Amino acid sequence: MSKSMRAVEISEPGGPEVLKPAERMRPVPGHGQILIELAYAGVNRPDALQRAGNYAPPPGASDLPGLEGAGTVAEIGPGVTRWAVGDQVCALLPGGGYAEYAVCHADHALPVPAGMDMKRAACLPETFFTVYSNVVMRGGLSAGERFLVHGGSSGIGTTAIQIARALGARVFATAGSDEKCAACIDLGAERAINYKTEDFAEIMKAEGGANLILDMVGGSYIARNIKALADDGRLVQIAFLESPKADLNFAQIMVRRLTVTGSTLRPQSDLTKARIAEALRREIWPMLASGRIHPVMDEEFALEDAARAHARMESSTHIGKIVLRIAG
Ligand SMILES: NC(=O)c1ccc[n+]([C@@H]2O[C@H](COP(=O)([O-])OP(=O)(O)OC[C@H]3O[C@@H](n4cnc5c(N)ncnc54)[C@H](OP(=O)(O)O)[C@@H]3O)[C@@H](O)[C@H]2O)c1
Repeated sequence: MSKSMRAVEISEPGGPEVLKPAERMRPVPGHGQILIELAYAGVNRPDALQRAGNYAPPPGASDLPGLEGAGTVAEIGPGVTRWAVGDQVCALLPGGGYAEYAVCHADHALPVPAGMDMKRAACLPETFFTVYSNVVMRGGLSAGERFLVHGGSSGIGTTAIQIARALGARVFATAGSDEKCAACIDLGAERAINYKTEDFAEIMKAEGGANLILDMVGGSYIARNIKALADDGRLVQIAFLESPKADLNFAQIMVRRLTVTGSTLRPQSDLTKARIAEALRREIWPMLASGRIHPVMDEEFALEDAARAHARMESSTHIGKIVLRIAG
């Protein structure tokens, strides 16, 4: 195995053009880690935030972008017993996915679901960890509840619609075009709301209110989300594409017993991520193997074309996940 590898690095903070092909040293797995020879890596919004200089990698993580990928275990670090060289895995990475090799905590890898190819498996970890931990573990979604997800055609949204539907919830989604709304319906949403022509808060109120909202927009959506919630409803915030600030009447939260919460995945402890991985393996992986849930794929780019992949993501014309082909 060569000691160097192909990678794409962030040459300086900026637009997609700052993503540049580079030669890097192959990482070495530490205690409790595995080295994966990546076949594909998923592209996520947080990669673009990092590229722009707004999402620094946590201490000890690679400075290369890339939070997920799929490939073959190439080396085992000391203390790892659950994987062997040659196993096919997909993994939540602390960073470093835009490269031929990446290291991760052994407990943050999951087997490639039976019958799924590497390309699709590479797109699972970041969105599935985020959606499951926020919708199920934090948001407490249960069967029969009304669930609203904003950005329904995004990587996060397409996953959230399917998981919520599989859990027996009634699913509502917002998206910015009729084509994106149709994609949300195909995935199991009973109502897709084109936020450019319809008012999601009024629609949800007419339905009795949302029991749980997963939001990535923030800003003007925050007060409207509060309005859209049913009594005892929960709002889970996972990003602020518009703004983290809002002028809010907190009396609504008290009088209607609402919960406002949120989280970011990357800074959470190794143990928390391992617990999320275990829950996914138990509850969701069988649904992926049976085909009941599937990652929604947008476009594939070569690793060296990562800048074009980011430009596509930021154009917001995509539906589902964008992926980088690393092998070959
Ligand atoms: N908290 C966490 O741990 C965590 C982890 C992963 C991702 N995230 C966040 O989750 C979000 C989705 O991630 P992703 O990778 O799935 O990205 P993505 O596929 O690019 O999705 C972003 C979506 O947001 C919608 N959108 C953009 N601006 C909007 C606006 N002003 N109003 C309403 N909708 C808007 C776009 O759809 P339309 O065309 O329909 O507007 C787009 O589909 C990102 O903000 C990301 O940072 C958070």
